[in-house]
Amino acid sequence: MKSTALGMITLCLAATWPVAAPAATIGFAQVGHESEWRINFTKSMVDEAQKRGTTLRIVDADGSRAVQVEAIRRFIAEEVDAIVLAPVVIDGWDEVLEEARLAGIPVFIVDRAVDADPKLYVTRIAANFNLEGKLAGAWLAQASLGRCAILELQGTPGSAAAVERKRGFESIIEQFPGMRIVGTGTGHFTRAQGQATMTDLLVAARDPDAICAVFAHNDDMMLGAIEAMKAAGLDPGRKPLTISIDSVSAAFAALRAGELNVTIELKSDIGGHILEVVEGYLAGRRDYPKWILVPSDLHEGAPRP
Ligand code: AHR
Repeated sequence: MKSTALGMITLCLAATWPVAAPAATIGFAQVGHESEWRINFTKSMVDEAQKRGTTLRIVDADGSRAVQVEAIRRFIAEEVDAIVLAPVVIDGWDEVLEEARLAGIPVFIVDRAVDADPKLYVTRIAANFNLEGKLAGAWLAQASLGRCAILELQGTPGSAAAVERKRGFESIIEQFPGMRIVGTGTGHFTRAQGQATMTDLLVAARDPDAICAVFAHNDDMMLGAIEAMKAAGLDPGRKPLTISIDSVSAAFAALRAGELNVTIELKSDIGGHILEVVEGYLAGRRDYPKWILVPSDLHEGAPRP
């Protein structure tokens, strides 16, 4: 078959000019908007997608795994290029992740972990929650010289952030016979529930003045708890000592006010990192480890006189 002149030109151009890959469409099943940290994280994803020309379809699941499962099924039906899942809880993902695999859509786990077959997702991009709990416990062991009655505010039950922070914290304090958790309850990672649960824990405590520290699995719950402690006539930051996780801007204000002693940083500006990995995979890169670690730092307030 003879090729026409126009046909030749098209062929030559295609052979020598790189053709830009079409921008990816990514479905993002986000936990919700329960904390300042979560809102900052969503913003980081949106800003970064805009910068890269990536189409990001976000579903805010408002703390519901069922809504996230439904969102993933919708992303599959819409034939997105990739799915990013920040799971509410650890369990219950195999079935829907298998559906994504059968549809040929790669899944990336971010932030909290899943207890699914690792073959069902490419990688997890996240901090080490267990280490955050250990850092909190180690700081407190030193500050209290290993003698401390502790109240704990846990995050969402069944979430990796709550399970691992608790586990890490307990693995340190159990080495000190004088340290123990004397009251614990969930504040679901929110300020309002942190305040309500701390109010209940203080009422239930036989001697609130004997409480040496409060450990909250995130800053929002601690900020609510600080209000509850003040309402109960306590002086948070002096007694009880106060330790939480995230390092959001309101926590830095509490550090400066002397009401919060420590906040361990969970980085929220990770949108660029996540989209780089997803787009790298879509461009053919395959050497990602199963866990890409985002490091955590510790911020301490000035000691109070
Ligand atoms: O999964 C991370 C936790 O979820 C953050 O510490 C908390 O603020 C958020 O809601």
